[in-house]
Amino acid sequence: MSLIHEIDYGTPVSKSEKLVTLTIDGMTVTVPEGTSIMRAAMEVGNQIPKLCATDMIEAFGSCRLCLVEIEGRGGTPASCTTPVMDGIVVKTQTERLKQIRRGVMELYISDHPLDCLTCSANGDCELQDMAGVVGLREVRYGYEGENHTKLGKDESNPYFTYEQSKCIVCNRCVRACEEVQGTFALTISGRGFGSRVSPGMDEPFLSSECVSCGACVQACPTATLNEKAMYDIGTPEHSLVTTCAYCGVGCTFKAEMRGDELVRMVPYKDGKANRGHSCVKGRFAYGYATHKDRILKPMIRSSIHEPWKEVSYEEAIQYAASEFKRIQEKYGRRAVGGITSSRCTNEETYLVQKLIRGAFGNNNVDTCARVCHSPTGYGLLQTYGTSAGTQDFDSVEESDVILVIGANPTDGHPVFGSRMKKRLRQGARLIVVDPRRIDAVRSPHVEAAFHLPLKPGTNVAIVTALAHVIVTEGLVNEQFVRERCDWDEFQEWAAFVADERHSPEAVQKYTGVDPALVRGAARLYATGGNGAIYYGLGVTEHSQGSTTVMAIANLAMATGNVGRNGVGVNPLRGQNNVQGSCDMGSFPHELPGYRHISDDATRAAFEAMWGVPLDNEPGLRIPNMFDAAVEGTYKGMYVQGEDILQSDPDTKHVSAGLAALECLVVQDLFLNETANYAHVFLPGCSFLEKDGTFTNAERRIQRVRKVMAPKNGYADWEVTQMLASALGFPMTYQHPSEIMDEIATLTPTFRGVSYAKLDELGSVQWPCNEKAPEGTPIMHIDGFVRGKGKFILTEYVPTDERTGPRFPLLLTTGRILSQYNVGAQTRRTANTAWHAEDVLEIHAHDAENRGIRDGDFVKLDSRAGSTSLKAVISDRVSPGVVYTTFHHPVTQANVVTTDYSDWATNCPEYKVTAVQISPSNGPTQWQEDYEDLSRKSRRIAAE
Ligand code: SF4
Ligand code: SF4
Ligand code: SF4
Ligand code: FES
Repeated sequence: MSLIHEIDYGTPVSKSEKLVTLTIDGMTVTVPEGTSIMRAAMEVGNQIPKLCATDMIEAFGSCRLCLVEIEGRGGTPASCTTPVMDGIVVKTQTERLKQIRRGVMELYISDHPLDCLTCSANGDCELQDMAGVVGLREVRYGYEGENHTKLGKDESNPYFTYEQSKCIVCNRCVRACEEVQGTFALTISGRGFGSRVSPGMDEPFLSSECVSCGACVQACPTATLNEKAMYDIGTPEHSLVTTCAYCGVGCTFKAEMRGDELVRMVPYKDGKANRGHSCVKGRFAYGYATHKDRILKPMIRSSIHEPWKEVSYEEAIQYAASEFKRIQEKYGRRAVGGITSSRCTNEETYLVQKLIRGAFGNNNVDTCARVCHSPTGYGLLQTYGTSAGTQDFDSVEESDVILVIGANPTDGHPVFGSRMKKRLRQGARLIVVDPRRIDAVRSPHVEAAFHLPLKPGTNVAIVTALAHVIVTEGLVNEQFVRERCDWDEFQEWAAFVADERHSPEAVQKYTGVDPALVRGAARLYATGGNGAIYYGLGVTEHSQGSTTVMAIANLAMATGNVGRNGVGVNPLRGQNNVQGSCDMGSFPHELPGYRHISDDATRAAFEAMWGVPLDNEPGLRIPNMFDAAVEGTYKGMYVQGEDILQSDPDTKHVSAGLAALECLVVQDLFLNETANYAHVFLPGCSFLEKDGTFTNAERRIQRVRKVMAPKNGYADWEVTQMLASALGFPMTYQHPSEIMDEIATLTPTFRGVSYAKLDELGSVQWPCNEKAPEGTPIMHIDGFVRGKGKFILTEYVPTDERTGPRFPLLLTTGRILSQYNVGAQTRRTANTAWHAEDVLEIHAHDAENRGIRDGDFVKLDSRAGSTSLKAVISDRVSPGVVYTTFHHPVTQANVVTTDYSDWATNCPEYKVTAVQISPSNGPTQWQEDYEDLSRKSRRIAAE
């Protein structure tokens, strides 16, 4: 393996369709109009020396190293800032140019520490490279004069250093922070010789606005901004391209290694989801993979009150298999089941559902997507015919109006958030529908045209009110609807939404939103050009989650915003492989490819391939599994890569269900909270240690590549395979590519997918088959997958979860940038520097009424339970609404969430809980008990 080097073309690609031909050093070059001379030269392999230019950001023209000569013109223009012109003749290597460049480099080097041999970037430094390229052999000015070589080092950021003495003030970092990340955390302070890069108001990086995305580190041509791992481990020697295992954006990285140690994750410019950008989690927070808490040996125990016993894989697998068989003999075939993981690969997920259907002989399989995006699957299937989003992420570059509803892209899907903000800075308009003032509402150079701060639980009312305005003000795209949708159903829908009870004025009593804002937002979405909707769990995790998804789909159809670039309905998926786990048949009623288990022909195809008969009855959903466990009819469960005790609602009920199981097998990296109730623990394996694929929110299937050997001995798919074989259902795959081949054979939308194709194209978006051999970036171009688009009536039905005198406030929940879901991974990284605990945001008015001050410990009570945490007074939430994150088990927001759920899919209503807040002295009893149990469990594991 060698180190992958991506070409730096110096300036961004031009999207112009007009071509220009010129001559560079005797070579004829044809490039799109608007291309820089520097890029045109690089296209034919002629690298013009450069320092301040890099192709992720616009040219700046400050270093004067890239000068060229153009025949017939005087002077020496900078090639990075000079666009190509038809017929010009450019010279890049004359004696005059060489001399100027040497002179420029001489000045740089005369103010640079001469410690190349011991520098962390030795061999990975553009300044060093350019000194060689221009042939610098001496520095005539000496090093005695005034210089910056004694300036200090900022080591406050956990992952990178800022060594000021090495800065050449090229401004690349400042521009990367502005143009790529959109945070505007850096400036050049001072003037002339005193110019320095400054985070915030001359603050340390950690306390500045910096969100540690790493774009500046990536852009820096010297060791000034450098990963700490480069100091600790050394420069990388080899690399492989792989996919981030955190969120559904699915960023591609080069995993750069030295020996078997991961030095750094470098965002891959060829990555089609991230286009060379990253966030703090994928870029830096991978330390959990080697954390000391990882459990590397299988363990068993006959009761959850006994200590764990370390055993061999063989013994653990045999024990689990014999327990599952015993339970099925005693309680029946359907008394066992399992949960697949949206963090694991497609191949692993496929195998777990195959094991349950083939070896357990039932369909009691469900996935954590149940608790996040199952309404997306249902709603989009009903309206459009496909359980997935319609666009690729590139599409946002063509959007004119972006409607974000129930999502917080800059925290939850940060790289998409940056791409969206870039488009907004270019002039697209933003509408935010969210109870909370998320960052996108107002951040540097971005301001929403409309923010609709609705009361939690009223999405259906607000989206139907938007439709009311569009229909009653004649803003429907009738041509689109007549051509592409069922006209009769549309008319019925139009009459429904036009009813006065759906007007912004009428629904204000539920939503709390000023009708003028609703009218303005509706007009903008319908008439502002390409309108794209992006939504998240703030839409789905409601008792009417599926209804809102359908209301959104209606809105896009009515305005003709489906089926081309820049528009569409885009669910922002939470976990890395939520889309994939749903695609792979993780739901109890569906085989891979969303085909109902009762369909005889589909079942027959799987039966023929797997060699076993399949149950034609849908199995239990996750909440029904817990109910059945409490009732005593469900006794055994295999949970791969999910901490259901922490992630599922109504923790008390979940723990009662888990405690009632006779055999719980947990497979995970860490002894998670669910494992407190487990009888068998099978060590999990991180994404760095296995091969496979993830499917991101764009339906993009991307390779996960093994960059190091599994620390626990086996990849997760191998462990599932051993368990299946021990259950008498042999699996004999030698490599995950064989599992993908089986998936492709059995699943029409995956028919054209293979590892060879993924290696060749980098990624493909399903459907990928005979009709679309290279995949499908945009769906429903020539017609909806289901035929005619279906308008569905979306009556607003208020949730049963109501506020009242006992619980007068509404709690809603969300994520923070630096942490991920229940925090099992990110809490085991230095990301805790940004978020060490969950806090409760409360409006000053509500706090004052209760005698609560900023930082006070408060008790949070709901009908389901209580927890306590610190209060933060914030104007991001409206009076009557409180907000928290759910990343830390010791606060466990889900203790207070109720068991209300989406009518169609049982997706829990995490986003609406009636609560009361009161001052508190400290943790509640369960929190103390929890700390005791966790400590005990960890001690037992350690023993
Ligand atoms: S790490 Fe990202 S946010 Fe922080 S200064 Fe660099 S580019 Fe800006
Ligand atoms: S920190 Fe690096 S990128 Fe930024 S101005 Fe200095 S040398 Fe250039
Ligand atoms: S945006 Fe998501 S996929 Fe990309 S690096 Fe961050 S966590 Fe990973
Ligand atoms: S690279 Fe063109 S002026 Fe610096």
